[in-house]
Amino acid sequence: MNRYDMFPHIEDCMNMTLREWLLFHNVMHRHYTRYQGRKVLKPPFDWIVLGEIIEDTRPAVIVEIGSFEGGTALWMADFVAAIKLDCPIISIDIKDLTNGLAHPGITWVHGNAANQTVFDEVKRLAGTRRGMVIEDSDHKEHVTSALLRLYAPLVAPGCYFIAEDTLCEFTQTPPFPGPLGAVKKFVAEHPEFVIDRSREKYVLTYNPMGYLLRQS
Ligand SMILES: C[S@@+](CC[C@H](N)C(=O)[O-])C[C@H]1O[C@@H](n2cnc3c(N)ncnc32)[C@H](O)[C@@H]1O
Repeated sequence: MNRYDMFPHIEDCMNMTLREWLLFHNVMHRHYTRYQGRKVLKPPFDWIVLGEIIEDTRPAVIVEIGSFEGGTALWMADFVAAIKLDCPIISIDIKDLTNGLAHPGITWVHGNAANQTVFDEVKRLAGTRRGMVIEDSDHKEHVTSALLRLYAPLVAPGCYFIAEDTLCEFTQTPPFPGPLGAVKKFVAEHPEFVIDRSREKYVLTYNPMGYLLRQS
């Protein structure tokens, strides 16, 4: 038996519901999804979609709100280099959990992303580049609302604001109220953004209704 053989096998899971599978994955990706040894706190199917969005929309700067260990930022920096896209990554966290990770394509910003001074610094770094934003911080509705208001203007037409973990409303897991309410209010007031459900093509997503495409 190898060290991964503690996990359930497919023959034991054939009667799992989609809800059970999603909750199972919440544990799996929190502990076992890594890039170059650093946790990537997203399930693999959303990771694939993230790459597809970057390839399809070719942003010139990506702002990630919530760096955690920096696994996603590191992967994005390597990925944009691999597809020859000039696209710096700006990753913000209230704590520094990256343990000294350095990459020429990543700028770390430390502080509360909802603070105007932190936003001003990110805006200065992003300049007039064609922007994309990923909101993956604490997922409380009022926080996501504030971050949508503040950071959505950095998103260029044809690019995305990804509001992560909107799934919690569907699985009825905390936080309540969560980011989906913030997304719904935001798009109702901002017709320039549409919820692009085609990015949920695998059905299995932690971001249902969270892929917001800026049309104009
Ligand atoms: C879900 S993790 C981010 C995961 C990361 N995006 C990834 O894909 O691996 C959430 C991170 O957001 C940070 N955070 C929470 N509230 C924040 C805030 N108001 N401003 C900046 N960072 C925040 C936390 O410290 C934590 O590291």
